Amino acid sequence: MNMKIKVPATTANLGPGFDTIGLALDLWNETDIKPSNDFSIHVTGEGAGRLARGRNNLIVRAAQKLADHIGMTLPAFHADCVNQIPLSSGLGSSAAAIMTGLLAGNTLLKSPLSNGEILNLAANMEGHADNVSAALMGGLVVSMMDDGKVIARQIPTEVDFHVTVALPDFHISTKDARASLPRKVSMKNAVYNISRTVLVTEAFRRGDLSLLGEAMRDKLHQPYRLKLIPGAQAAMDAAKDAGAGAVALSGAGPSVIAFSSKAEAGIDESMKRAFQKAGLAIRIFKLGISGQGAEIQRL
Ligand code: HSE
Repeated sequence: MNMKIKVPATTANLGPGFDTIGLALDLWNETDIKPSNDFSIHVTGEGAGRLARGRNNLIVRAAQKLADHIGMTLPAFHADCVNQIPLSSGLGSSAAAIMTGLLAGNTLLKSPLSNGEILNLAANMEGHADNVSAALMGGLVVSMMDDGKVIARQIPTEVDFHVTVALPDFHISTKDARASLPRKVSMKNAVYNISRTVLVTEAFRRGDLSLLGEAMRDKLHQPYRLKLIPGAQAAMDAAKDAGAGAVALSGAGPSVIAFSSKAEAGIDESMKRAFQKAGLAIRIFKLGISGQGAEIQRL
């Protein structure tokens, strides 16, 4: 069975909602899957020449994980990937690959698993549920994990915020960025984040950029991570000075994400200058929010 799978980029945390909130963005990885004698991957766009071309590729590993989970044999396939999501950027490229592989495996095996079961496998592979939930469901998604099971809900939103992402030429793995976080947090900081997380979702629900600006602040992860990414704090401050209503580190970084009511021309330039001052070149992505999540088209 031939199919095309489309999965959107995602930004996680949105400031205070660490490992809890994800938002799908209008930037997509598209993968054509067709049965083949052996597992092979061809990549065009982001990750071309860098991603594994055989069984070690994350798409194949995810499909294999699903087959193992249900005790079935995975039929070999060729995947032709056209990738727009930059690797190791904080824009959910691994979540997209995992979701692509799980959806491909499930479809090739005649859909034994529900979307909820696919989400459980995805979150267990990724270690947190925020990116994979938004990648599957689209829009703004709040998720929790309980004993390996994910409960996730899309929050209906009223937004047409413009999104500017600045991706510096700086490598930090999610694993290292997570290792920099403290094992324990204070009650005061927990309350700081819980209250703001709820208000971030309310700001999206109402399209209230000024509330988003108040609420998109964090004391649990950004202070530690920003120290590791040269220019990132300055870029966040500069984006706000240039008219962004709210800013955050995108996922574990290194990208910085800014929300504005219109595509303010100065936001990208100001972030660029801040990162350049710290010696880093950047790429800018001007994006919209995607209400649509992952899609499978049978070809
Ligand atoms: N919630 C995860 C983290 C997202 O902040 O580590 C990683 O993209």
